[in-house]
Amino acid sequence: MGGGYSGGGSGSSYTYGGYLGLHELLSLQRDQDGISNDEMHFIVTHQTFELWFKQVIRELREIRDILATEHVPEAQVPKAVEHLGRVTEIFRLLASQWKVMETLTPQGFLAFRDGLGTASGFESFQMREMEIILGLETVGRTSDMDPLGHFRKLATRGEEDAAALARLEAALEETTLVEALTNWLERTPIMGSFYGAADDAEAVRNYVDTHLTAYTGIGEAASARMEAQGVDNIEAVKARFAAASQGAIDFLKPNGEVNRARAGLLFIESYRELPLLAWPRVLVDAVVELEESMVLFRTHHARMVERIIGRRVGTGGSSGVDYLDATTKYRIFGDLWGVRTILLKSELRPTLKNGEIYGFAGDGTD
Ligand code: HEM
Repeated sequence: MGGGYSGGGSGSSYTYGGYLGLHELLSLQRDQDGISNDEMHFIVTHQTFELWFKQVIRELREIRDILATEHVPEAQVPKAVEHLGRVTEIFRLLASQWKVMETLTPQGFLAFRDGLGTASGFESFQMREMEIILGLETVGRTSDMDPLGHFRKLATRGEEDAAALARLEAALEETTLVEALTNWLERTPIMGSFYGAADDAEAVRNYVDTHLTAYTGIGEAASARMEAQGVDNIEAVKARFAAASQGAIDFLKPNGEVNRARAGLLFIESYRELPLLAWPRVLVDAVVELEESMVLFRTHHARMVERIIGRRVGTGGSSGVDYLDATTKYRIFGDLWGVRTILLKSELRPTLKNGEIYGFAGDGTD
């Protein structure tokens, strides 16, 4: 292997093992305890996950820092997208890495499971740190689980556990990625109207209302069509369409006031052909892809667990598979998923205004 590993400054020349800290790294798998191959495999798999988590935490902070600046320089958006892509690939890799774990048979695991005591992935402080930086809130968690509750108990056990708690408490004070993204979306020019401009509120309200009128109209037309065709349970169908219209109103105008970040997101998703919105669109797609890869990572973990321990209670005391399946419902970037429900086909969108602001040559509809 080439490369020289000589990055340590003038005169210093690393060896491969020295640069990577391999001697230390390879002494951390408990060989000295005379463990079985199965248990070594269990440890190595966990450790590789945790190493990737460490990298993900760095990447997430970098993306958050880029988006948290008040005027994100255009050149920085592709950078954020690159880092998002890396995190997504790491989660894809990890989602398939559960397959290696699955080569552990149920009985092979039972042979050393008791030795774990109450140790559990529940205590992965890096997993919690990732979730906190992303912006997963306590209320969004299953049974409103307090992500730090468990770590407060552990913290009494020693310095390292206390440090893990301190780390999570500090992370909770930081701006989350979802907050940074939302603030960035809020500044999207909508129908050529700029955030903070004198008549911006009115322009955005008009846009949102026009969209909502079209959306509600489609639901009403669809339910009338179904009624004419004699669809079963028409009252239930009508109620469903009415709830969908109300859902769209609640999404765009919670408490009667326009939510500008969601309106910006709707605009980006609706007018995907606008050149100036190309990078914002790619960024939004990259965040959706990241969350999708995390959900699949959680789903594959649950299936692997079901295969190895069935429906047993977890070593951390949770309901096991049921708990893990519940975590697959988490959506940190809920707005990015939610907006999809209320999109309209191109012909029914509100007519674009001020298209030239977005570098759009125009199609004569302005
Ligand atoms: C035989 C292999 C494994 C089994 C049977 C297993 C089982 C479980 C169970 C039952 C839980 C729920 C909490 C509890 O009650 O303990 C859990 C949580 C967790 N496990 Fe695993 N796991 C395995 C391997 C791994 C590996 C290799 C990782 C990699 C780091 C991992 C990471 C996690 C994390 C991060 C959680 C917390 C999930 C959350 O709260 O959102 N697990 N695991």
